[in-house]
Amino acid sequence: MSTVLLSAPAPKIPAKPPAPPKPPAGLFARRTKLIGSENAFRIGPQIREIESRGGKVIKCNLGEPDFPLARHIADEVKRQIDLDQTHYCDPQGILPLREAVARTMSARRGISITPDRVVVFPGGKPPIGLTQQTYCNPRDEVIYPSPGYPIYESFATYLSLKPVPLHLREAADFSFTGRELAALITKRTRVIILNFPSNPTGGVVSAEQLEEIADVIRRKAPPQARIYSDEIYEDILFDGNVHHSIASLPGMVERTIIASGVSKSYAWTGGRVGWAVFPTAEEAAVFRNLNINYFSCIPAYNQMGAAVALESPLSAAEMARMRAAFLERRDLMVAGLNAIPGISCRKPGGAFYLFPNIAGVCRDLGAVAAHRKLPPALRERTSPATLVQMFLLWSHLVATMDRRSFGRIGSEGQHYLRLSIATALADLQTGLQRIRAAAQDHDGFQKFIKAGQHLC
Ligand SMILES: Cc1ncc(COP(=O)(O)O)c(C=O)c1O
Repeated sequence: MSTVLLSAPAPKIPAKPPAPPKPPAGLFARRTKLIGSENAFRIGPQIREIESRGGKVIKCNLGEPDFPLARHIADEVKRQIDLDQTHYCDPQGILPLREAVARTMSARRGISITPDRVVVFPGGKPPIGLTQQTYCNPRDEVIYPSPGYPIYESFATYLSLKPVPLHLREAADFSFTGRELAALITKRTRVIILNFPSNPTGGVVSAEQLEEIADVIRRKAPPQARIYSDEIYEDILFDGNVHHSIASLPGMVERTIIASGVSKSYAWTGGRVGWAVFPTAEEAAVFRNLNINYFSCIPAYNQMGAAVALESPLSAAEMARMRAAFLERRDLMVAGLNAIPGISCRKPGGAFYLFPNIAGVCRDLGAVAAHRKLPPALRERTSPATLVQMFLLWSHLVATMDRRSFGRIGSEGQHYLRLSIATALADLQTGLQRIRAAAQDHDGFQKFIKAGQHLC
């Protein structure tokens, strides 16, 4: 055998393949330039590049709980596959799941939801864009929190709507007052997005604040304006906070879309099961038809798993375990970040994100000055916090997200990072040491800027 191999002719080195053709000019519709993205996913290739060279990155970028799917849910999914629940199913969502959503959401919020108003989607994300498509014509206005989940702003620009950021103030624990909301509502307002607990700030809302918000909406919002209440972090609350939904307040269920799903509560981001409850069955039917057009349906075996997740008595203990882990990490990280000169970090009441103010670090490293000196085209695409984010990633191997990743419009001059604490405690401790080192690495930062790579 080996003689045959030895006498075989040397393999030919293939010629360098020709460069793939570039897409022709004008190929893409103009709107493709208007859509944003979720940078937590976009920096994945950069992390892989660093790791392929042997670096180990501490990943505080993705909002993905680092726990396995609970046994009782996984077992149900497997059982349903064995029962051959692997075919097309109801595009609105299978009835057992819609019934489970209706029962659990009604009980928790003290309202009455029927399954014909529930629509199941592939995750909590799709109803965000579909809602804007359904209720808005070009130039209609969408009010959304900023900093906020980036998909809110992304779709508003993509659909040529008017994005109206509602800026959350750190001093108000990243909440807002009724008066601040009132100032943004006009007769063109069609969607008002709320997100408590919040991504990226972890901010929560009190019953009194919601009353104030509901009061403004009752008085000022046009009757066609819908509230989109993104409650996907409803189960992740600390310090005795309880979840409040605006839909529970008088006159609100009639105009609120309540969205949630399995990704965060059950650490099941890969299940791709989310849902929204609509004010009327007629509206749900419109979204059912959108599902037919876009997705046909969502895998029935995962939906059956989601129904078990919602109603099994075993789920509560799993969630409590996850919350306890997040709480321990939150406390460790908030204390650790606050001990670093140039950083101040509020203690979030929910979700699994920290949103430290890094204005001092931006100043001390020279990021504000470096940003000011960039060529205008590049300066536009980055920010001082982005420069620090990239420096942390490429020079100190910690993946975080910058403020700009959570709504760009009006974000200038705001110096924050978002850290996901859905990462093992030991990794977070390493991450903290690296952030501390980076915050004092003035020379390293200057070299990084001089090299001129990865600045946005
Ligand atoms: C506020 C908010 N809404 C919706 C989603 C989307 O969740 P899913 O992964 O279920 O699509 C996320 C995910 O990070 C989120 O943070």
